[in-house]
Parts: sequence; C-alpha cells; structure tokens
Amino acid sequence: METDTEPTVVTCGEDRFRLYLDEATIQSRIAELGREIAADYAGADQPPILIGVLNGAFIFTADLLRALPSDYEVDFYKLSSYGEQKVSSGRVTEQKVASADLTGRHVIVVEDIVDTGLSMRYVLDRIAALGPASLKAATLLRKPAAAKVAVDVDYVGFDIDNLFVIGYGLDYAQAARGLRSIYILDTDA
Ligand code: IMP
Ligand code: MG
Repeated sequence: METDTEPTVVTCGEDRFRLYLDEATIQSRIAELGREIAADYAGADQPPILIGVLNGAFIFTADLLRALPSDYEVDFYKLSSYGEQKVSSGRVTEQKVASADLTGRHVIVVEDIVDTGLSMRYVLDRIAALGPASLKAATLLRKPAAAKVAVDVDYVGFDIDNLFVIGYGLDYAQAARGLRSIYILDTDA
C-alpha cells in the first residue's frame, strides 16, 4: 500500500526507476491546465466532454475533470498498443468506444502520454469522423523525441525525456499505476 510519502526509487521487475515528477508538481500543473482550458471554453455554447483514453489516462482524466467547471462531462475510449513491453508495438487496438454521442460536441481527448503519437492520432481521427463541434487534445506527458506521427496537442502538461516512465496511471506490465508521482527508468542503475 502507498503511504503519504512516496519513495524516491521504485523497483519494477529488473528495472529501477527514480522520482521524476512529484505529486505536488503534477497537481499544480493540472490546476494550470484546468484554468487554461476553462478560459478557452468560457464562451462555448455547451459544456465540453473529456474523452479519457484507458487505461493509462484514468487518473489524469479524473484530476483534470476536477480542475474544471462542474458542467464538464466525461467518457472513455479504450485502446491497447503496448502489450507487456517498454516500447510501443506500433499497433493500436480499439477495445471500447465512447458511449456518449460525440456528434456536435466540444470534445477534448485526454491521454496520459503521447509517445509515438499513434494512439492520439488514432483516437483523434476516429472522433473527427463523428463530426464533433470542435476537437482538441490534452496530454499530461509528451516525449517529443519519440514522435513517429505528427499530432497537434493543444494542452501539454510536461515535455519529458525519451525514457520509459511509470506511475500516475502509467504502467509497466500493468503494475505501478497507483503511484502518485511519476518515475523514470534509471539508466545509470
Ligand atoms: P503512443 O506510442 O503515443 O501511441 O503511446 C501509446 C500508449 O502507450 C500511451 O497512451 C501510454 O498508455 C503508453 N505509453 C507510452 N509511453 C509510455 C511510458 O513511458 N510508460 C508507460 N506507458 C507508456
Ligand atoms: Mg494511454
């Protein structure tokens, strides 16, 4: 069980991860993103809907939603592309689509991380085909050096190094999602 004070080093399988973004840093950036998004949609004719991309984005989506006005809606898309590996398989599989009708809505796709960009590109293309009133993208993390496809992301929490990260929803073989901070692979270990 996690306690109030999280470790500075986490071991997952054979790999060591070191603290990279702590809880306070993540939360204050999310508060800023919330203010920015709320200002951008302040004059909108209807409340936006966040579409979180499962599994990784479930915690960020929840915290971002709580940083926004109470009329914002939420739904989820489920993709899988990683398997048990630390590098993207490059294949995106759709496991669940949003149940809300997104036609004519102001949609904000919410990802935990944009790595190769394939997942974000895939979801944006799928939702664009449904005819939303507007479509934007938000991600907590982005690895600019890993990009394989060009994706415009409107709201980015942090641009990070091109190394595997865990915690705050991000997993390694499904573990580590519950860590409140984000940890990065310790290449010096
Ligand atoms: P993509 O390569 O941009 O399509 O990213 C695919 C998905 O892989 C992301 O939504 C994450 O859920 C996951 N992912 C990418 N990079 C990492 C990482 O460093 N740690 C954990 N999961 C990751
Ligand atoms: Mg994801």
